[in-house]
Amino acid sequence: MRRAVACFALLGFLASVSTHGPLAGHSVVRVVPETELMLTILQSLLAQRQSIDVWKEPACVYCAVDIHLTPLEFDDVISALREHGFEPKILIDDVQSLLDSQRRPLKFKPGSAVFDYGKYHTLDEINGWVLNKTNVYKEITSLFNITKSYEGRMMTGLKISTPSPFTKPAFFIESGIHAREWISPATAIYMFGQMLDRYKIDSDITKMVDMFDWYLLPVTNPDGYAFTWTGDKNRLWRKTRSKHGLCYGVDPNRNWDMHWSSGGASKDPCSDEFCGPSAFSEVEVKGVANFLQGIKGLKGFIDFHSYSQLWMSPWGYTKKLPTDFKQQDAASAAATDALEKVYGTKYEHGSIANTIYIASGSSADWTYGKINVKYSFGVELRDTGKYGFLLPEDQIITSGIETLQGLMALASYVKDN
Ligand SMILES: *[C@@H]1O[C@H](CO)[C@@H](O)[C@H](O)[C@H]1NC(C)=O
Ligand SMILES: *[C@@H]1O[C@H](CO)[C@@H](O)[C@H](O)[C@H]1NC(C)=O
Ligand SMILES: [Zn+2]
Repeated sequence: MRRAVACFALLGFLASVSTHGPLAGHSVVRVVPETELMLTILQSLLAQRQSIDVWKEPACVYCAVDIHLTPLEFDDVISALREHGFEPKILIDDVQSLLDSQRRPLKFKPGSAVFDYGKYHTLDEINGWVLNKTNVYKEITSLFNITKSYEGRMMTGLKISTPSPFTKPAFFIESGIHAREWISPATAIYMFGQMLDRYKIDSDITKMVDMFDWYLLPVTNPDGYAFTWTGDKNRLWRKTRSKHGLCYGVDPNRNWDMHWSSGGASKDPCSDEFCGPSAFSEVEVKGVANFLQGIKGLKGFIDFHSYSQLWMSPWGYTKKLPTDFKQQDAASAAATDALEKVYGTKYEHGSIANTIYIASGSSADWTYGKINVKYSFGVELRDTGKYGFLLPEDQIITSGIETLQGLMALASYVKDN
């Protein structure tokens, strides 16, 4: 059965299959529901099998759904899918060999070498980068602490505030809320690195930096992120690491106190979309919310995720559009147009619920709905599924460069509107 599905990629499949490692023989498969009925069937099929790691949830007719399958699940799930008229295609034939090809020696010591923006970094390395930047650019930066995580890690961020005769509006970038989405912190760190290293050198960057007080929280879910660095077995972890009965972790992007647990979230602690025992149950989420509430004149907010290439605005909890949607979406369009001009990378834009799926208790819904940040966005970065969460390092800089152009265009729009 597996061979039949993989036939178009058979050579690659046979050549690259890995026999050692916890994800050996694991695959990622894409199916596309072509009718409402197929969509419903797929949703219930996946709901019945909680253990399956869904990379891209079933959301709409003709929207791709990506499913990570263990070798044990494979035959059974594939035949169930085929029975219902699906034509599964292999996106990644062996997750382990993809990981093996991405391995790097951990020889970077925090604070001791030049930070390589073209690599993924551990939490310690990222915190070392924040410390270094705030030392090197003392006049225009400061370090801020949010709170300690569930497992006791300090959540540290970087603020850029250039001299100005008047109080500037603020813009907050949140990345790394979902642990396995490594391109999110990597892209945000690249952008802030450029904003500092090229301030007063590049006129567009200078203009952008001077527009706002810029905040970056590079790793919003430090326990989860650190966990994804503890071996291949844990590389695909998404949630926090708090304990709930037999299972670990809350989806920190379903835990915000805005229409909490009202759709597109799960009450099951073992689910990847577990919204938590209560809104703001997660100390990390509550900590960021408190911090955001304390920022005067917060005008822009972006929560970076991966993958799918989408630039989205509220609401996530309902398909209804908010009163500010026209302007919010025009800002998204300005960002994605500028982003696409760099390398031709196409992003879609729209409201969260209409673009990806209904998701309640997300950060952008909260910043817009509860603290009036009109320009609140959730962005899904590269790619569209070839590598998914395992985006190779050679795409970090290009993602950084294009997203920085998008952010620049967005900042100008937000400033003027
Ligand atoms: C800080 O960054 C500078 C510039 O990139 C680099 O030369 C230096 O080695 C770094 N220092 C520390 C202590 O990390
Ligand atoms: C942030 O926390 C670290 C680690 O606990 C501490 O060393 C540092 O002084 C704190 N910085 C600020 C600005 O609060
Ligand atoms: Zn995410």
